[in-house]
Amino acid sequence: MDLKVNEGRVMDELERLAEFSDTPAPAVTRVVFSQADMDARRFVKDECAGAGLAVHEDAIGNMFARWAGSEPELPAVGTGSHIDAIPHSGRYDGTVGVLGGLEAIRVLREAGFRPRRCIELVMFTAEEPTRFGIGCLGSRMLSGSLEAGAGERLKDGDGRSLNQVRQGAGFDGSLGAVRLPRGHYHAFVELHIEQGPLLERKQIPLGVVTAIAAPASIRIIIEGEGGHAGAVLMPARRDAFLGACEIALALEAAAKATGAIDTVATTGVCQVFPGAVNSIPSRVQLAVDVRDIDETRRDQVLNALAQACETVAATRGLKVEREVLNADSPAICDATVVESLTAACEEQGAKFDKMVSRAYHDSLFVSRIAPAAMLFIPCRAGVSHRPDEYASPEDITRGIGVLAAALRRLAG
Ligand code: GLV
Ligand code: MN
Ligand code: MN
Repeated sequence: MDLKVNEGRVMDELERLAEFSDTPAPAVTRVVFSQADMDARRFVKDECAGAGLAVHEDAIGNMFARWAGSEPELPAVGTGSHIDAIPHSGRYDGTVGVLGGLEAIRVLREAGFRPRRCIELVMFTAEEPTRFGIGCLGSRMLSGSLEAGAGERLKDGDGRSLNQVRQGAGFDGSLGAVRLPRGHYHAFVELHIEQGPLLERKQIPLGVVTAIAAPASIRIIIEGEGGHAGAVLMPARRDAFLGACEIALALEAAAKATGAIDTVATTGVCQVFPGAVNSIPSRVQLAVDVRDIDETRRDQVLNALAQACETVAATRGLKVEREVLNADSPAICDATVVESLTAACEEQGAKFDKMVSRAYHDSLFVSRIAPAAMLFIPCRAGVSHRPDEYASPEDITRGIGVLAAALRRLAG
């Protein structure tokens, strides 16, 4: 079957989607349920409806666009990703999997394929943790990894609850209904940019993902004593920021100490209060991200972080509170879906490598309820979560062609 991806069509859609942003191009900022996110969702829904797919949304805002198969009662084959974007990021993270999934469906239909199983494109809500502190909100709830009650207790940085925010965006209904049963999907495939340099370095155009690393997010609040930057003498200080620095450095040391290249730890948020040059920091909030493909090793770093928090509290006379927002398990991708992807690469004459994903993805959670795997395309210099993130039209097109071939195999 000749699968002809319409490069102009999908690149044009990616470009138009990038325009829904709260920061000027090339940066993209699209935080979940912001106006930019709502406008972008509208755009994707319209494209899906325009392609003749039946669109519906759940109570957390996950969107499902379905191409009916000849045996619609069978579990569907799913594909998709996310369109929310962290502050000052790029235009390809997640979006390639959503608009690429849509293009793959159009390509199959234009090639005359009639699926036996339904093929369903999913646009997951809030893969990025920007607003509510934990990533993969939509896929986490859909897979039952986050209970409705725990979801309802989530608050954004302005103290607004998830319920308030989602209902304000027009997504009401019970969060309990978001969960899908095991068996809902026969298989799930997510197309995504690699977000690392390996494919480009090896000049291999596709990566078939066999495992997805396990992330953990921790919020740390450090309280000391504020005061006048000139008047309070050094021996009398309980500076919350200096405690935060020691914690961040201890985290770095713990991640390096595992000796494994797959252990990574980042202190990505440091909010200092009151934030005045002539005022001693009285309070600091840190957000920490720790990952590994080996959960035990990842947890060693979490333990070292907990120890550092206690030590810093004791030695500097600070109050340190630590909240683990999530500590997820890694996913091993399903062997049958991996095999469908490798067969699709071969069929399309595309070289591939098997690899692990160090970034997390919605597939990490979908894999809890369905056989899932991922397909990576290269991105320039491995750059992601930055405005200069770039994937070439050629690589995007090739990835969509292989995705379409894999969906055809899986949907029968
Ligand atoms: C996803 O965006 C991640 O941080 O891995
Ligand atoms: Mn991302
Ligand atoms: Mn992503």
